[in-house]
Amino acid sequence: MSLLVGLFDSGLGGLTVLRQVQALYPHSPCLYLGDTARVPYGQRTTEDIRAIASEVVHWLRLQGVGVMVMACNTSNALALDVAVAEAGVPVVGLIDSVASGINSDRIGILATPATAASGAYRRAIHACRPSASVTEIGCPAFVPLIEAGEREAPELRRAAREYLAPLLEACVDTIVLGCTHYPLLRPLLADLLPPDVQLVDPAVAAAQRLGPLLASLGESPEAERIAEPRPADPLRTFYCVTGEAEPFAKAATAWLGRRPNVRTVSLQSPARAF
Ligand code: DGL
Repeated sequence: MSLLVGLFDSGLGGLTVLRQVQALYPHSPCLYLGDTARVPYGQRTTEDIRAIASEVVHWLRLQGVGVMVMACNTSNALALDVAVAEAGVPVVGLIDSVASGINSDRIGILATPATAASGAYRRAIHACRPSASVTEIGCPAFVPLIEAGEREAPELRRAAREYLAPLLEACVDTIVLGCTHYPLLRPLLADLLPPDVQLVDPAVAAAQRLGPLLASLGESPEAERIAEPRPADPLRTFYCVTGEAEPFAKAATAWLGRRPNVRTVSLQSPARAF
């Protein structure tokens, strides 16, 4: 019996977080939810993003997760308080996790329009480094293209040049990939940047933050536990989506290095999915 880690995102992006979690805690079973019926989140209103977060968190809670990782910066930026208030279990966010570890005063943030407009990264970084210059850029073209399976398409390259231009003008030396889909574009972005610009993936810090939490929760008699996942799943992970399972399974295969078993779920259903 092990503690179940719940992770959620609008779609494929959170898999970049899941991979960091799996790398550090290969024995922790995970439940991944991609809200693919509503992707992208990043152009939605704040009210919408908060209402969706509430629904997702309730569903994960119903599934018996013992800790939640917000594998979505947009939800993290606009609805962390909703998740913390409603999860009933500890919640790990990306933005706070990464902010304290950034060791630069010229920082760029690539994020969804909603995250960039929220100023959440700027606030979190200024809380640790008041003198840092933080330039936040909303990148509306990225997520729809990534969800469509693109990684190197000319439209992506054009959009990337446009989004990186103001960061290069601001002479940033560190760029935070402030949307969990963007690590999938790392090779493309690195190709367009001078070699001394560092790309930071907040998932690394979030996964590290999970460690002590898992250790302390593992000892807690109140921690909710589930039966071992089927042995057929070597990484002990359940994959759920709110849209069609097949396109997600196909798109996720390249990133995970194997084809996941994906199940379509209804977040409105009061039943446990497993
Ligand atoms: N991957 C999510 C994020 O980190 C959401 C992207 C979207 O759906 O627009 O912000």
